[in-house]
Amino acid sequence: MKIAVLGTGSVGRALAGRLAEIGHEVAVGTRDPEATLARGGEFADWAAERPGIALAPFAEAAADAELIVNASAGNHSLAVLEAAGAANLDGKVLLDVANEMTPSDGLPLVGANETDSLGERLQRAFPGARVVKTLNTMNGEVMAHPEVVAGGDHTVFVCGEDPEAKRVATALLEQIGHTDVLDLGGIEAARGAELALAFWLRIYLSVGHGRFNFKIAR
Ligand SMILES: NC(=O)c1ccc[n+]([C@@H]2O[C@H](COP(=O)([O-])OP(=O)(O)OC[C@H]3O[C@@H](n4cnc5c(N)ncnc54)[C@H](OP(=O)(O)O)[C@@H]3O)[C@@H](O)[C@H]2O)c1
Repeated sequence: MKIAVLGTGSVGRALAGRLAEIGHEVAVGTRDPEATLARGGEFADWAAERPGIALAPFAEAAADAELIVNASAGNHSLAVLEAAGAANLDGKVLLDVANEMTPSDGLPLVGANETDSLGERLQRAFPGARVVKTLNTMNGEVMAHPEVVAGGDHTVFVCGEDPEAKRVATALLEQIGHTDVLDLGGIEAARGAELALAFWLRIYLSVGHGRFNFKIAR
């Protein structure tokens, strides 16, 4: 598939790299490719080693893609998808892996609550997109390489309104190496998946690193 990964952070890099590795044609979306490369640092080094992965403005990356991954900063995801352009999202599966959070004196405060979530807001703002919330309950390395935790024996959630979009998402997750894809239902379930960040952060403090994941024993 032609896949656009919107986001140049550690999650965007991990997913774009893995999706290219398993044979997809990947473009990474950013606000301004020249500025992003000129900043140097981790993204520039990563991109230099992967000439097969294109870097394009959000709209250009999305226009060419059959499937889009929202790996942008959650507080700015609405703006990122507006820049990508509603017409470029129409009819396409949009995997939303983002979390909204606000810095605080202690742990960051999670944006989702019991009555709304980022996944729902994105689906409302872009009704033509087929939003599937997934992968946001683990760190970027585990998203892209589930085998690094317990040989891949753990759970990834999907939720969204469109059953076919969830089937496409599930197939892609399985290609990446996820073995237990649990369907939580409609996009409203993104509330739970996003609130899980509050739990994840506390587990992270206790475990001391991000190489862990939830396993739903049943
Ligand atoms: N880090 C993890 O392990 C982890 C785990 C689960 C979920 N997540 C979620 O995954 C998403 C990506 O996380 P990340 O740590 O890889 O990257 P990030 O730093 O949260 O986001 C980087 C991306 O957001 C864009 N961005 C930042 N500010 C913006 C603004 N004002 N307007 C438009 N775009 C803006 C950047 O655009 P440019 O490319 O133009 O700079 C960049 O592409 C986040 O929503 C995060 O909560 C992360």
